[in-house]
Amino acid sequence: MGEKTVLKERCPILQFDDLGDERGKLVVIEGSRSIPFEIQRVFYIYGSDHDVIRGQHANRESEFVLINVAGSSKVRITDAKEEFIVELNKPRMGVYIPPMVWKDMYDFSEDSVLLVLASTHYSDEEYIRDYDAYVRELKEQS
Ligand code: TYD
Repeated sequence: MGEKTVLKERCPILQFDDLGDERGKLVVIEGSRSIPFEIQRVFYIYGSDHDVIRGQHANRESEFVLINVAGSSKVRITDAKEEFIVELNKPRMGVYIPPMVWKDMYDFSEDSVLLVLASTHYSDEEYIRDYDAYVRELKEQS
């Protein structure tokens, strides 16, 4: 039973404060304060069709926080033992993803803007894009 919650504990849902007032809403994310790492890179994904699956990789080094700043999408997160799905549908909500966790993003709404904060600069070498290779690397690590 206890073990079932391990992946979810490693990938917590984050709720960001709203500093807004009568003029509108304001959300601030500060590296190493609102999220567990310093931000080295920001990218965002939009214009993906509803039936597209993105991600489909694990990262050896990078940590990420994913936030749908508009619209919604789903993230399937697995460590090859457990799996869970997060629906990102509020600009004040994010999910933290540590290294060596496999993720797929899908079910993008038409207005989806998926913001990704990353702990590293981009490096293709730290991506594992083959699921079987990912499982092999996990086994080697344990
Ligand atoms: P990809 O990793 O396939 O995107 P996603 O994780 O959203 O499915 O990246 C698409 C292309 O963009 C690929 O050629 C690598 C490039 N890219 C960068 O150059 N820098 C980046 O920070 C990212 C995320 C991707």
